[in-house]
Amino acid sequence: MKSQSIETKIDIYTPEELSVEIRGLADSAQYAATTSYSPYSDFKVGAALLLADGSVFAASNQENAAYPSGLCAERVAMFYANAQQPLTPVTAIVIAAYTNGKFKETPITPCGACRQVLLETELRFGNEIDIYLWGTKEIYHIRGVRQLLPLCFAKESLS
Ligand code: THU
Repeated sequence: MKSQSIETKIDIYTPEELSVEIRGLADSAQYAATTSYSPYSDFKVGAALLLADGSVFAASNQENAAYPSGLCAERVAMFYANAQQPLTPVTAIVIAAYTNGKFKETPITPCGACRQVLLETELRFGNEIDIYLWGTKEIYHIRGVRQLLPLCFAKESLS
C-alpha cells in the first residue's frame, strides 16, 4: 500500500491587507449579496468575478419553492459572465455571505457543485482563478480551483 496526502494552501488576510482591486471586487460581492432572493434560507450570498479585460460580473443566490431548482451565487455569477463574455478568462472571484443581520466574520466556502463549475471555467480558459473567500475579520485566498477540488473530475476523465 502507498499513501499520499494532498495539501491545500490558504493565505489568510485581514481586510486592510487586500489590494485596492480586490477590495473593489469585495464591495461588488457584498452589494450582490443584498440582491439575493433567499426567502427559504435567509442566507444571502454574493459572488463577484473579475475578468481578464477588467470587467466585473456579480450575482447572488436565487432560491425556489422547489428547493433544488435554486442556484448558488457562484454559479449564477459564473454562468452570467461566461454567457456574456464567452471568450474572456475569469481571473478572480470574491464570495461574501450575509446572515443573521450581518456579513459573516469568517468566510464560507463554495459548495461542491460550485467548485466543479468554477473548475470548468478555469480549465476552459487555461488560467488559474484567484479565489477570495471574504469575511469581515479574515479573507482566505486560494490560488486556483484545483486547490479546492483535489482529485477532480474533468474533461480528461471522459477519455
Ligand atoms: N449558497 C450560495 O449561494 N453559495 C455558497 O457557497 C453556499 C450556499 C446558497 C444556496 C442557498 O440559497 C443558501 O445559500 C443556503 O444554502
